[in-house]
Amino acid sequence: MNKTITILVASLLTVIVGCASYEPLVSMRGADVAAADKAPATLAYVGKRPGTQPVVARTFSTQPPVIPHAVDNFDEVSLTENQCMDCHGPANYVKKNSPKLGDSHFVAATKAFDASRHVCTSCHVAQVDAPALVENRFIGNIK
Ligand code: HEC
Ligand code: HEC
Repeated sequence: MNKTITILVASLLTVIVGCASYEPLVSMRGADVAAADKAPATLAYVGKRPGTQPVVARTFSTQPPVIPHAVDNFDEVSLTENQCMDCHGPANYVKKNSPKLGDSHFVAATKAFDASRHVCTSCHVAQVDAPALVENRFIGNIK
């Protein structure tokens, strides 16, 4: 009987001490797992209207160059529309005074635009001035 009481008291003490030192877990994203995702803050693009800034230097070979200009009004990329092509496409780049698409954007045999490149922003990204989320020690291979 005595032994049972000792075990009971010891267990009770463990629970009480355990509760006193309990610190709630804080998730890295700062919200409860079940909470709805917070929309990220909307930041303005560093670049302005196309034609008003230099291109951004590339840091490694085969890098898709980043987009130096703002893209606020060029988000219409659908089956029949592509606002990026209005300036960068082979039919328009000269009169729009814009850099021409890379050679890799055309099918070698037919010289036609490679439709797998239709969604430009899956490779090219416009820039905002945001703090890095993690330390970045990347060193490019272009001097
Ligand atoms: C109104 C014309 C226009 C439109 C529309 C446009 N661009 Fe541009 N783009 C330019 C010009 C001009 C430059 C040269 C840099 C500058 O002046 O901003 C450029 C630069 C770039 C570059 C850098 C090229 C390099 O060699 O570094 C990329 C990548 C690019 N644009 C991608 C895009 C994408 C993707 C879209 C669609 C979301 C787009 N552009 C829409 C005119 C345009
Ligand atoms: C699958 C990834 C990918 C997609 C999608 C893509 N690009 Fe590119 N782009 C690249 C890479 C990589 C380069 C670097 C040069 C090269 O490989 O041609 C480049 C280069 C460019 C250049 C600079 C050309 C040069 O080297 O001087 C322009 C302008 C450009 N792309 C515009 C666009 C536009 C506009 C679209 C959509 C119609 C687009 N790209 C879709 C990967 C992509």
